[in-house]
Amino acid sequence: MGQVVIITGGSSGLGRCTAAIFAAQGWRVGLIARGAGGLAAAAADVEAAGGIAAVAVADVMDSAGLVAAAAAIERALGPAQVWINAAGNGVYGRFTDVPEAEFRQVTEVTYLGTVNGTRVALSLMRPRGQGTIVNVCSGVVFHGLPLMTSYSGAKAAVRAFGQALRIELAFERSRVRVSTVFPPAVNTPFFNHAISHMGWPARPVPPVYQPDVVARGIYMAAMTGRPEMTISGTVAAFALLSRLAPVLTGSVIRRLGVDGHLTRDAAADHGASPTVFAPSDKPSAVHGAFGERARRWSSQMGLRRLYVRLAGSRGLS
Ligand SMILES: NC(=O)c1ccc[n+]([C@@H]2O[C@H](COP(=O)([O-])OP(=O)(O)OC[C@H]3O[C@@H](n4cnc5c(N)ncnc54)[C@H](OP(=O)(O)O)[C@@H]3O)[C@@H](O)[C@H]2O)c1
Repeated sequence: MGQVVIITGGSSGLGRCTAAIFAAQGWRVGLIARGAGGLAAAAADVEAAGGIAAVAVADVMDSAGLVAAAAAIERALGPAQVWINAAGNGVYGRFTDVPEAEFRQVTEVTYLGTVNGTRVALSLMRPRGQGTIVNVCSGVVFHGLPLMTSYSGAKAAVRAFGQALRIELAFERSRVRVSTVFPPAVNTPFFNHAISHMGWPARPVPPVYQPDVVARGIYMAAMTGRPEMTISGTVAAFALLSRLAPVLTGSVIRRLGVDGHLTRDAAADHGASPTVFAPSDKPSAVHGAFGERARRWSSQMGLRRLYVRLAGSRGLS
């Protein structure tokens, strides 16, 4: 029997794609999200990849609901060795145009949802003395992006939370690992699910990657327990530039202007269906509307896989 992974935000995009990758590697997969329809579709993906799935409806803002969801999944599948916090959402627009309730919702789901998921995962893993928690963060932590103030702040908090918690776990010599991954922009339904105050739908800031590239990075983080991991050369370069030359980084971002971040894009016009406050009643998907220009390969991930193989760790085949 394989091991067990639990994924919040498992009904769509990156979480759903990651679920299928774990299933193909022989894992049993627990999926948590608010929408029952999306969860059923993601469970079908897991089964098509040869895995066994269990689903539980819960909102990551509801701690008691998350505890119950995790307990139901463990009853069905067995103890979880990996927990992935992938639930998240976004609101696009100038800070002054974003209503307080929307800013708060992004912060609570994207940051506190990760904290709540981590709390439940630790309550299961600490007594067992092992396990890996992967928090899906973002390249925006290296320099906040305009028109994404709530998201930038929430993701920066996710990173700092992981850094602090990792040291607390080291104090007690725990073998539970906390890994934070920093994906680039990904071609998922995230942008259709976001609220936009721009007057036109949201779109990713290029370069955009296909979800399976990033999901493989999440899988690798779970296998290696790396404390922090960028998942593309572009994010690694952005991280380096913002560390070495923060003023220059800010000025490059400023030069892109508003249009450089969110120009009108025909692909974004299809299917906007915000899910910030409630799940979609439309069928969920792994991919978004930006596939034409999305990259199918990350040189950084290729090098990491080579390194993991040479080092003899358990990586992707
Ligand atoms: N797409 C990108 O460019 C990108 C880049 C970097 C990082 N990320 C991060 O990757 C993660 C996954 O995003 P994605 O791109 O896959 O977007 P997505 O397709 O919109 O998926 C978001 C997932 O989160 C779930 N979710 C949203 N609010 C929730 C809540 N309150 N409680 C429980 N589940 C909730 C959604 O399911 P329900 O609606 O059914 O609840 C869905 O499964 C997010 O943390 C995002 O910030 C994305």
